[in-house]
Amino acid sequence: MANSVTFATSINMSVIKYWGKRNEELVLPMNGSIGLTMDSEHLCAKTTIEINPEFKEDRIWLNGKEETMQNPRLQNCLREIKKRAQVPQQMVNWKIHIWSENNFPTAAGLASSAAGYACLTTALAKLYKIEGNISGIARFGSGSACRAAHGGFVRWYPGFDDLTGSDCISETIFPASHWPEMRILVVVVNDSKKKVSSIEGMTRTVQTSEFMKYRAEKISPKRIDQMLEAITNKDFEMFAELTNRDSNEMHGVCWAAYPPIFYNNDTTLGIIELIHLYNNAKGGHKVAYTVDAGPNATLFLLEKDVTEFLSILHHHFPIIEEVISEYFKGMPVGNIPAPQELLERIKYPTNKPGKLKYIIYTKVGDGPKQLPDCEAVNLQSQFK
Ligand code: DP6
Repeated sequence: MANSVTFATSINMSVIKYWGKRNEELVLPMNGSIGLTMDSEHLCAKTTIEINPEFKEDRIWLNGKEETMQNPRLQNCLREIKKRAQVPQQMVNWKIHIWSENNFPTAAGLASSAAGYACLTTALAKLYKIEGNISGIARFGSGSACRAAHGGFVRWYPGFDDLTGSDCISETIFPASHWPEMRILVVVVNDSKKKVSSIEGMTRTVQTSEFMKYRAEKISPKRIDQMLEAITNKDFEMFAELTNRDSNEMHGVCWAAYPPIFYNNDTTLGIIELIHLYNNAKGGHKVAYTVDAGPNATLFLLEKDVTEFLSILHHHFPIIEEVISEYFKGMPVGNIPAPQELLERIKYPTNKPGKLKYIIYTKVGDGPKQLPDCEAVNLQSQFK
């Protein structure tokens, strides 16, 4: 058998947010979540893994730099994988080398660890011949990696088994092809402030935010049912309102922590305000937004609305002329002037150029994908 494999995996961006764990050791969330896995063409973690009887020790390289294998989350994933391995025991004992890199633009502050752990787990499962749903193993690396282990529209179930977490898994509820017009814009915001890590933020929120329990018990289950309905019916109006509300509420729960946690900056808040004004001017939801544990905003919209919305966004958040060739990443997108009659209906000031660093334009993707040996990360690194 091949002792080496390479996989590429993208981020899964939640529209019903995961925030707060009921069990930190087993990474069991307080509530279920739903997210869309992005196309790995534009944003991906790529991982090559080799097991070899000649290797003397386990080693890992992230973006070309050797890191420690002693990271507890990495060790937990490896332990869970080895428990389920379907190859001869001697192979399980062979040492492992892991090379991982991502094509996310540097300093994007995107959920690279979720894509990384989903990619690592998928590659390990292939190498050790583990069949079935491996999202519960990726979860040990990072909660949101659980969703990134699948493609399309993904639901993560919180499960009931608090002893082992065996039923805390995710699955694709619809493939990417279900809603082919859906598009995603990752708006990367210039920001220099250090944020509270999501691990720390979740712990503080669970311990001190009075709203956390209410959200998990009363709001999220109902909203998940509504979101399933919106996605099933491809009802963008409903999808957008639920997405916006859930993002705002996750940040509201963080504000209610003590001391409060705020991930949004002025630019994030400005983007949110502009989207509401734009939707209002258009007479319905044309754009949805969601914000993770940082200032970047991820927007969802239908393909037909992308060019016009970008013209409005960039009228109010101008791009610095000198960086324009580097600014648009991902799929090709038109850059037209904003329609005057629409600008007149949107009462929003124009910011100084450069508040937005760049935009990644992508779509929903099919999930982890195996790559041929010639695309292995370690081989590529040698030739760089
Ligand atoms: C804000 O998966 O980074 O992206 O489970 O502690 O690794 P850990 O947290 P992480 O959680 C980030 C949560 C979020 C929202 C979401 O992905 O739903």
